[in-house]
Amino acid sequence: MRAVVYRDVRSVDVCEVPDPEVQEETDAVVRITSTALCGTDLHMYDGRTGAQPGLVLGHEPLGVVERVGSAVQTVRPGTRVVIPTHLFCGVCAMCARGLSALCLRARPDGLGAAYGYVGMGPYPGAQAELLRVPWADANCLPLPGEPGDAYEDDFVLLADAFVTGWHAAATLADVRAGDTVAVFGAGTIGLLAAYAAGLLGARTVYSVDHVDARLGKAEELGAVPMDFRQGDPVEQIRADRARRGLPLGEEKLPGVDKVIDAVGFQAHDRAHPDRERADQVLADAARLVNPGGAVAVAGVYPESDSTPQAGGSADGHLDAPWGTFFAKAVALRFGRTHDRRYTRLLRDLVTAGRARPGRIVTHHGSLADAPGCYQRFDRRQDVIKAVLHP
Ligand SMILES: NC(=O)c1ccc[n+]([C@@H]2O[C@H](COP(=O)([O-])OP(=O)(O)OC[C@H]3O[C@@H](n4cnc5c(N)ncnc54)[C@H](O)[C@@H]3O)[C@@H](O)[C@H]2O)c1
Ligand SMILES: [Zn+2]
Ligand SMILES: [Zn+2]
Repeated sequence: MRAVVYRDVRSVDVCEVPDPEVQEETDAVVRITSTALCGTDLHMYDGRTGAQPGLVLGHEPLGVVERVGSAVQTVRPGTRVVIPTHLFCGVCAMCARGLSALCLRARPDGLGAAYGYVGMGPYPGAQAELLRVPWADANCLPLPGEPGDAYEDDFVLLADAFVTGWHAAATLADVRAGDTVAVFGAGTIGLLAAYAAGLLGARTVYSVDHVDARLGKAEELGAVPMDFRQGDPVEQIRADRARRGLPLGEEKLPGVDKVIDAVGFQAHDRAHPDRERADQVLADAARLVNPGGAVAVAGVYPESDSTPQAGGSADGHLDAPWGTFFAKAVALRFGRTHDRRYTRLLRDLVTAGRARPGRIVTHHGSLADAPGCYQRFDRRQDVIKAVLHP
């Protein structure tokens, strides 16, 4: 079959690799109809993770089951399915608690696993014609409809992007009806976190970025765009809050209740926009969050960085304003999304017409288009979400 393979820094190829097989009786092999590119793929593409040539990339698979092992009971050849990025066994002590991204069995040398990701287990990626899905009963979410129907873009975002945005808003930030929320980063994850915050009843959602196309999309989804080229976003948001009128007695709460970091360690340094500053967003979040609020960190901070930039270090250490977080009694929550907790619920919001996450998809292509797509997406400008159809 053909697959997108990491070649070198900022270079991917589309080449022939062996077809995946049913290796265990609990496996399925899925024929991929849509597979998306993620900001996480760019961490590898940009050469920040030590990815080795030959790694099949991709972790956002939507498709149709082609073959199943003898023990698989809940899907069969022909079932349309979406598969979570973070594969999991379904029965270990972490999976039983709904913490599937921390599965104790999916990766012998660590917690949790993912397709096509360096250091996240031996699982080839999903930017390919076929994908082997271990523990298929736990990992495959059955979907209605036919490949290529009106839900195709919505459903592919259930693998990773929408569940991450939802996890960031609902669980990590604990967004409640009436909250004020600021989301840093208007890539796919930030946009869908902002969208999720709106669905959860937030009063005002700010979306901070410096890319016109992305800020425009945020506004389309109901957020208030904040362009950090126009100045310190923390001051801009405080000024907007004051303009709308702070409730009487809440003058000491000029920030927001909940902040979501959907940028991670490759954050731009606002003082020098051509450089990175790994601690930029956390520093802004500490200033902006109101006392008693929450900061949700969904952007990735890796345990090692082969080319650390200002504020970060090779072993993943980061300067963080702990004193401010402590003084404000802020809840700080991190981590990968426990996809399967949300996929069923979000599928049903989509099919009921209550959520259309596919609105953020800006580009479609074939597998052969992958090298060009990666190149354009890496500029982090007009390509917000690209979906390939193998
Ligand atoms: N927790 C999870 O399970 C999970 C899942 C998927 C992706 N992620 C991570 O989420 C992050 C975002 O992913 P994406 O696909 O949206 O990536 P992306 O690269 O498309 O978007 C990042 C956005 O952040 C903006 N940005 C950069 N510096 C900024 C700053 N200082 N302030 C505000 N905005 C800034 C960029 O302009 C860009 O639009 C990545 O780190 C990715 O690895 C986490
Ligand atoms: Zn991802
Ligand atoms: Zn498990």
